[in-house]
Amino acid sequence: MWLYLNDKYVEHDKATISPFDRGFLFSDGIYEVVRFYPPRGFFQVEAHLERMRYGLEQLRIKGIDIGRIRPIIEELATRNGHKGAQAIAYIQATRGAYFPRQHFFPPPSTPPTLLISTSPFKPHAEEIEKGVRVLLEKDIRWSRCDIKTIALLPNILSRQSAVEQAACETIWSRDGFITEGTHTNFCAVKNGMLLTPRKSNFILSGITRQVVLHICRNLNISSLEASINESELSGFDECMIVGTTTEVTPVVKINELAIGNGMPGEMTRRIQKELYRIIAGN
Ligand SMILES: Cc1ncc(COP(=O)(O)O)c(C=O)c1O
Repeated sequence: MWLYLNDKYVEHDKATISPFDRGFLFSDGIYEVVRFYPPRGFFQVEAHLERMRYGLEQLRIKGIDIGRIRPIIEELATRNGHKGAQAIAYIQATRGAYFPRQHFFPPPSTPPTLLISTSPFKPHAEEIEKGVRVLLEKDIRWSRCDIKTIALLPNILSRQSAVEQAACETIWSRDGFITEGTHTNFCAVKNGMLLTPRKSNFILSGITRQVVLHICRNLNISSLEASINESELSGFDECMIVGTTTEVTPVVKINELAIGNGMPGEMTRRIQKELYRIIAGN
């Protein structure tokens, strides 16, 4: 498998990263995941790269030329033979390697590390069709969740809880209000209106969330970015989790609470259908 690491295409077993890389030592970096759907290709690349630019700016990581990334993921998809099947590109940038270890930034001459890979991706067809159960846990993350950092320990722990309790994902609440999932944004439907937590420093501005809001406008579905109290969950007609790998997945149970009639809802189906139409470019 080919990777792209610091200006070069390399075979994965020949790729090396310094033990002093700040990504390894401090999780001092950010990442993106972009979906590849044949025959159209990478989906929403510009939006992903724009979010990456934002993260780099916020963390003051310099020296990554975002404009180079698109041709690199295209080349990797070709070299790794994905062009006929679904795949994902993983893009990670860190503040680079510096010795001795120190919390504060290394000298400006330290180059950042850019790692890009692609891998085959199998869609979660059954979950998307039948709906899933998610857990609800407390959001213990920091208050800059708008940056897609590689520091993902709370996400890892909450996702592991889900795996251990036969759920698909964990969604979080902070001070009683729903934020998002470990790798998804949360949407709900009540009386024909789509609700999703508003953009803030407590959620990642998901690309799929943006696409879903765009779909609502296209389909004349009213939508509202609003605070969602945990106590409202029992009154929702439908719930869904949305994300690059999750697409639009119906949530039919939260912990032991059945949502609506316990089956994927009609609005979720309409949004899924429109998402696939957009992906196919029709
Ligand atoms: C915490 C979090 N929220 C939301 C999302 C969904 O974002 P996107 O639709 O851009 O994949 C992700 C994606 O990984 C995520 O990690």
